[in-house]
Amino acid sequence: MENKQTKSLLNLIIYGAPGGGKGTQSSLLIDEYKLKHLSTGDILRNEIAKNTSLGKIANGYISNGELVPDDLVIKIIDSILGNIDFDQYNGIVFDGFPRTVAQAEALEKLFEEHKMTVDVLIDLDTDEEELINRLLLRGKTSGRSDDNLQTIKTRLETYKEQTMPVSKYYKDKNRYTKVQGVGTIDEIFERIKEVIEKIKN
Ligand code: AP5
Ligand code: MG
Repeated sequence: MENKQTKSLLNLIIYGAPGGGKGTQSSLLIDEYKLKHLSTGDILRNEIAKNTSLGKIANGYISNGELVPDDLVIKIIDSILGNIDFDQYNGIVFDGFPRTVAQAEALEKLFEEHKMTVDVLIDLDTDEEELINRLLLRGKTSGRSDDNLQTIKTRLETYKEQTMPVSKYYKDKNRYTKVQGVGTIDEIFERIKEVIEKIKN
């Protein structure tokens, strides 16, 4: 894999609770900065749709609002990282990964091997009422097995218990920024771009 020695990359983690806008903002970011979008949720849903053995395992966890085991998710990231063509991309947006401290540690280790770094974790800050409203609204048309009130509540609990420690992990490394995640999609995107421009300069 080509790495930082030949090209300066921009590697971001878009972080936040379920419904926080990670996917929405990631799709704007990949166009703006020519980044590779790496969403573990999308990858797992794709495996479920194709009925692969990984999909069969992931399905139960996702529809219950629980996390898929770390080793499976880390393996996915490991296999993709080695195959990204950085002639085509200026870096990576991680969306929905890392979701546990074990995943964050694994990513640091993989990045070290590839001489890459996570530039910043951007924490989309929203409130629970907003999150639930967004996800219930999306649930009317998304077909996602986890967009129902019961599973949404479990997802929020899972986020608090297992994923919130990831923000502290990056805070301790001074690679954390919180962004107000309520507002229009464009307003939030502008806030994120401000953070990135500061990093680039
Ligand atoms: P994942 O797919 O990552 O889902 P999630 O974290 O629950 O988040 P969502 O995708 O629902 O929300 P989002 O933050 O992307 O927001 P979005 O932009 O869509 O994970 C799903 C499951 O997969 C997990 O529960 C777990 O089981 C498994 N999994 C995935 N990764 C894993 C990992 N690393 N380890 C272990 N397990 C893993 O926006 C939400 C809605 O709001 C949309 O309808 C959107 O149009 C709308 N919206 C967006 N922005 C705004 C705005 N500003 N104002 C109003 N509406 C808005
Ligand atoms: Mg998403």
